[in-house]
Amino acid sequence: MLVHAITSNVTYEFASDVHAGLTRPGQKELPSKYLYDDVGSALFEVISRLPEYGLTRADERLLRRHASEIVDRLAAPVAVVELGSGSGKKTRWVLEALCRRQRTFYYPIEISRSALAMCERELRDIDAISIVGFEREYLDGLLEVAAHRKADQHLFVLFLGSTIGNFDRAAGVKFLVEVRRILEPGDSLLLGTDLEKPSTQLLAAYDDGLGVTAAFNLNLLARINRDLDADFDLEQFAHVARINHEARSIEMHLRSRRRQTVSIPAAELDVEFLEGETIWTESSHKYSTEEIFQMARNAGFSCQAQWIDDEWSFAENLLTAE
Ligand code: AVJ
Repeated sequence: MLVHAITSNVTYEFASDVHAGLTRPGQKELPSKYLYDDVGSALFEVISRLPEYGLTRADERLLRRHASEIVDRLAAPVAVVELGSGSGKKTRWVLEALCRRQRTFYYPIEISRSALAMCERELRDIDAISIVGFEREYLDGLLEVAAHRKADQHLFVLFLGSTIGNFDRAAGVKFLVEVRRILEPGDSLLLGTDLEKPSTQLLAAYDDGLGVTAAFNLNLLARINRDLDADFDLEQFAHVARINHEARSIEMHLRSRRRQTVSIPAAELDVEFLEGETIWTESSHKYSTEEIFQMARNAGFSCQAQWIDDEWSFAENLLTAE
């Protein structure tokens, strides 16, 4: 697999995002994309196997069950672009169905190099597949693939796992608009969305009994220690999962157990925390089935089909660029 790496600015960007997020007036925050370094990506793989966290299994069940129907609805020939492939495990079913029909180029786009490597190991045994990975931000990677598309070729973009839920609702539609701008009419987007569910179920999913989600969240501070030379004492922060009823999301925070000052040399920053103060590290928005149709329309897509899992309410949505 070819990995087109642009790593030079990564630490600088991380330092400046950490600086901006921790000096904000009011609620401190850190971008959730930084949860996924090598350790964080591996911890997320474990989360996806926990009994409390059914999201990834629902996503995979739907893709496996409906792979041939999904593929039959696509204009041929297609190249597949996945925004955030992770381990690539759940993508196998759709790729196998496509590869039965045509030789298929698969372009996973990932900010985590180790996830990219995992994904290529996972999928390289599929017949008639060519995998070219990009270590990039989603839209940069998509632009690059789109720039090299062949004349008769349609793009089939996968944005699975309800990663869209990390955006707030307005930013989610804005992201879809940007994806749409890069696509041509007739191209497709398969969008995975986690649906609204009872609070108790959500809280268990984002604060599991084993503490894997807590470790996943705390790893962000450990990463700042590793990459930016900081001195966060992990024992002095606690993982919190909190429902935001107004936003229809569940949030992860890291709560300071006491008043403390942390120094982050590579971000040229000393930051003070009050006892009980939190850093907001992630939001996961939950959707209703109808609003997904509306979001798609607002972004210049039409929703062709929607499949819903019967064990864990999650929807796979096949959108076509208008
Ligand atoms: C990978 C973004 C879908 O929001 O559910 C899992 C990440 N955070 N447990 C999600 C996550 C805490 C996950 N996504």
